[in-house]
This record gives sequence, structure tokens and C-alpha cells, in this order.
Amino acid sequence: MLASEEGNGPRRPKVRSVAGKQFPSDFRWGTATSSHQVEGDNTNNDWWAFEQQPGRIRNADRSGRACDWWRNAEADFDRMAALNQNAHRLSLEWSRLEPREGYFDDAAAGRYRQMLSGLRARGIEPMVTLNHFTLPLWVARSGGWENTRITEWFVRYARHCAEWFGDLVELWVPINEPNVVLVLGYLQGVFPPAVRNPLRARRALHNLLRSHAAAYRAIHAVRRGARVGTAHNIRLFDPAHKRATTDAWAAGLQSQFFNWVWLDVLHRGEGRSILWSGRMPECANTVDFHGVNYYTRERVRFVPWRIHYAFGRNFYTPGAQMSDYGYGEVYPVGLYRALSEVWRRYARPVFVTENGIPDEDDDMRPRFLLDHLSAVHRAIADGVPVQGYYHWSLLDNFEWAEGWRMKFGLIAMDPVTQERRERPSARLYAEICRTGRLLLDAS
Ligand code: GAL
Repeated sequence: MLASEEGNGPRRPKVRSVAGKQFPSDFRWGTATSSHQVEGDNTNNDWWAFEQQPGRIRNADRSGRACDWWRNAEADFDRMAALNQNAHRLSLEWSRLEPREGYFDDAAAGRYRQMLSGLRARGIEPMVTLNHFTLPLWVARSGGWENTRITEWFVRYARHCAEWFGDLVELWVPINEPNVVLVLGYLQGVFPPAVRNPLRARRALHNLLRSHAAAYRAIHAVRRGARVGTAHNIRLFDPAHKRATTDAWAAGLQSQFFNWVWLDVLHRGEGRSILWSGRMPECANTVDFHGVNYYTRERVRFVPWRIHYAFGRNFYTPGAQMSDYGYGEVYPVGLYRALSEVWRRYARPVFVTENGIPDEDDDMRPRFLLDHLSAVHRAIADGVPVQGYYHWSLLDNFEWAEGWRMKFGLIAMDPVTQERRERPSARLYAEICRTGRLLLDAS
């Protein structure tokens, strides 16, 4: 484990001049989005149904037209190109491509081909996620991630996608943040299917991992040159008091469950965690690259009776800079630590597949961007092969159970009028994308 910045390790001198912070020339500079959050009218999935239930989404917001991408993503592709971005991570909506069990919709596939070619025509390389939180209604109604049959359904869908889009896509991510699906959907009950049940969570864990592994093989069987990886939410869990061994133990337990058991299984075919430990040999060696979705870190205090919370009470570092609505501590060093740790553990190329901050008035995002990119640069300088950075997000979009309140966009977007307005950080990022260099002092 890397020493945290507050650890006992040698402190690095602060870098005053950053003229040398040049990124590799083939670095991918982009943004990330997901289908349900931007397309609009995704009426045939579990999230749309969830949004109709009272009390599920803050302010009773709905995804509705979202950012209108199904009709006109191209207008925003133009904006990406004007902002010098050369990469974009987007997701395909399973409920559009297979609206009923076994029925694959060529017209929907045609629209996605148009979008993917549209990106390429603008010099923007797509990275494609097959599942970003939403399930087709027919899958959700059959038990979703708890039904072992989901692996065979998912792999068939993955094969179709590889056949439909394989000539346009090299980088694939089968499942976005399976750990978030599990924790929010099956332990905290704030995402569908909104249950709090460790036994059901354990079933979902198995099926999420098996489905990733099966999709990995299916994509490779169709496109030998494809690269298939993860987009895993890595959160740092640090002990409340750095010398308290019980705090460190509880923090380690949480980190092992949230961050590592998943990736251990996908590499070695076995893993250990408080929820489940064991072997899944069929999942071994199914990662070509690691996508790190990094937002924040938590502190953990050991509390012996909180068995269901892995013996911890979690909180954000007192006095630390927080993002809007208490979304999390702003902790850029955490990105360096996450990238370094993923590389140290698994030795595969790494991407930052998400990183961003809810910040409506953009008073924190410019600094956030510089400091986090500085952390990426430091990781590269230390030998971590980071190949790209996808900022979350291009524009404000439907933020799941938080509705429209949290504004993650480089571009502000009004869901009622569909008006767009660049925030200052969009320009700042555009300059970095153009030069491949951090221009300002980000020490
Ligand atoms: C991630 C998720 C994204 C986005 C982001 C901001 O966990 O993959 O869809 O919502 O968080 O909260």
C-alpha cells in the first residue's frame, strides 16, 4: 500500500513550475457519459420505472428528455471536438438494443453506429460501456443481477454489440462500477432493486463478475484486437486515526470489499472480502486494462457493533475541502494513490475512466481539474502506464437518485430548455487537451 500523503513516507518537494508537466503524445483526453443520463426517453429500463416511484429521486426529478442525445448527440460531439477532446467514453443502452428477450433491434444498432462513426469522424475515439447501471425491464423483472441466467443474456448482448460495432470500437467496458451497483442497489437500497439484503447482494456479486468475464471472452471471440477492461469505482478508505490499528483494520476491510475483491477475482479467479470469499476460476485473466473511476475518500472509525457496516463508521475528513451538497472530500492525492495501487496490484495499463465534481458555479472545478491531472501526471512520471483521462462529465446530466441537482458538467445544461453554456473549466480543459500540458501551477 502506498503511504498516504499524511503518512510517514518522505514528503515530495512542492513543484512550483509545471512547465515540465507534459503528457504522452498519444494520451486520450476526453469526457465520459452514460446512456440513461444523456439520451432521453429510455422508457424501457428499470431506472425509468424507478423514477416513477414516489420518493426514489430527489425532488421527484425524472430523466425525461435528458440531454436529448438519442435525437441529437451530434451537436454535443461538435462541442467535444471544439474543446479539443480526442476521446469519449459512452454507454450503450441494452434496453434499446434488446428491448424484448432475444429480439435485437437493428434500427437502434444503426443509430449507435451513426453515433460511433460520428465520433470517429470528429477525431474522437470511443470507449464503449455495455452496461452502465440500467437493465432492460424484461431482465429486471426476471430478477436482474440475482438471476444466474443474466450471464447468458448479457453475453449474448455483448456478442451482438461486438458484431455490430467491433469495427468502430477498440476499447470496451462490460460493466460500469459493479461495486456501486451492489452497494447502492443491494446493501443501501437507494438504486434499483432497492433492497438491503447481504444474501441477495452476494448472489448479485457472483453474477456481476461472471457476466464481466463471459462478456470479455465473447468480445475477444468476435474481435481479437479488442481491449476489454473495467470502469471500477475506487474509493480510498483511510483510518480515522492513523495510529489506531482497529481503525486501520476496519478501513482495510471496507477497502478490500469495495475496491479489491472484484479485481482480484477478475485477475486470479479468487478473492476475499467480508461479504464473500472464495474461488471463481472462470473469471480469471479477464482484464486488459483498468479503468479507475475516482471521486473521493472516506475516513473509517472502528465501531465493534456495526457488523453490517464492516465494523466502521464512515465520515469525511473534518475541515477538508468538500464539493457541493457534501458529495465528498476533494482529495487529489487519492487519484495518484488509486492509480499507483491498481498498477502495483495488477500490472495492466490504466485509464481514468471517470473523475469529476458537482460544482454548479464552477468555482472549484478548475482547481480540481488541475490538481487531479497533476496527480495523473505524477503517476505517469512514477511509471504507471496511464493512457487516458475521461472527465465526468461533458455536460450536466441526470445524476441518478440525485436527479438534476448535482451539476457535473464542463458545460452547463438546462434540462427544461436544453440550453448549453460552457463553464470556464471547459476552456481550461480544452487548452490542456490541445497542448497535452498542464499550463498552470497546480502544486
Ligand atoms: C459514478 C457513475 C456516473 C456518475 C458519477 C457521478 O459513480 O458511474 O454515472 O453518476 O458517479 O456521481
